[in-house]
Amino acid sequence: MKVFITQEIPEIASTLLKAKDFDISVYSKNKPISKKELLNNVKNADAVISLLTDKFDSDILDHMPNCKIIANYAVGFNNIDINYARQKGITVTNTPDVLTDATADLAIALTLACARRLVDGIDMVRQKRFNGWLPKLLLGVELKDKVFGILGAGRIGTATAIRAKSFGTKIIYYSNSKNEILENKTDAKKVSLEYLLKNSDIISIHLPLNPKTLHLLDSEKLKLLKKMAIIINTARGDIVDEKALINILKKKKIFAAGFDVYENEPNLNPELYKLKNVVLLPHLGSATIDARNNMAILAAKNVIAILSGKKPITPVN
Ligand code: DGY
Repeated sequence: MKVFITQEIPEIASTLLKAKDFDISVYSKNKPISKKELLNNVKNADAVISLLTDKFDSDILDHMPNCKIIANYAVGFNNIDINYARQKGITVTNTPDVLTDATADLAIALTLACARRLVDGIDMVRQKRFNGWLPKLLLGVELKDKVFGILGAGRIGTATAIRAKSFGTKIIYYSNSKNEILENKTDAKKVSLEYLLKNSDIISIHLPLNPKTLHLLDSEKLKLLKKMAIIINTARGDIVDEKALINILKKKKIFAAGFDVYENEPNLNPELYKLKNVVLLPHLGSATIDARNNMAILAAKNVIAILSGKKPITPVN
């Protein structure tokens, strides 16, 4: 059985797959694979381990006659047309749970970086502009007693809320369904989207990207944010109308925004680089050694399950 991995991932994945005598090939250039190269490599594959940057649309899926599984090395799977894959008999799996803590940690790191103006401070020191303690030097905001709004109360949203609660914030959340665990652990209140946007001091986005959440935060909704609001996105860039967000950041209508994800990764809107009230990260949500190893193990185990005629561990279609 041939398994194609679209980028080097932790070695443990190949070790597990080789132990089953699968024939592994790995795309070896240190950049996302192009569509042409993807087509060339997947046409004979029985299984593919893919990245969130690899687009599997009908064009590609039509050229994978042997493929039984695409194991996406990410929890998000908006890069794959999962319904068309199902029609083609291809199982799609993702890597939930194992990256929850890493991503929630990063959402909090971005929150603190925005609230306490860490990037401004780091730049000031590195550029030798720190001329001594001053009462008004780079004043930020405290988290205690602030309202922390969780947009999307799944695994990562819940883990972020639990962390945020420990800073003394009051948690509110917007979700399709009531989250008892979140409510029990943090006294969180489920609210409407409009209420959350109007009342949160910090808004952390944890929704999946799909047609319903695409530009969910458009210019009208962004107008509802508080003057001192901080907005954090570790989910997917396209959930927010990025141009509209840049516009309100330019006009200082909110305090700051922390971006781990962008609408057009990795080609960022050039206006973002000009803003002082943003913290910009290169999609690091799951970037811990622990999470990435566990993602590799889970992706490999999903492939092994399907190619051995068993049920996958974390199917999404
Ligand atoms: C995912 O797994 O979907 C995350 O975006 C990775 O950081």
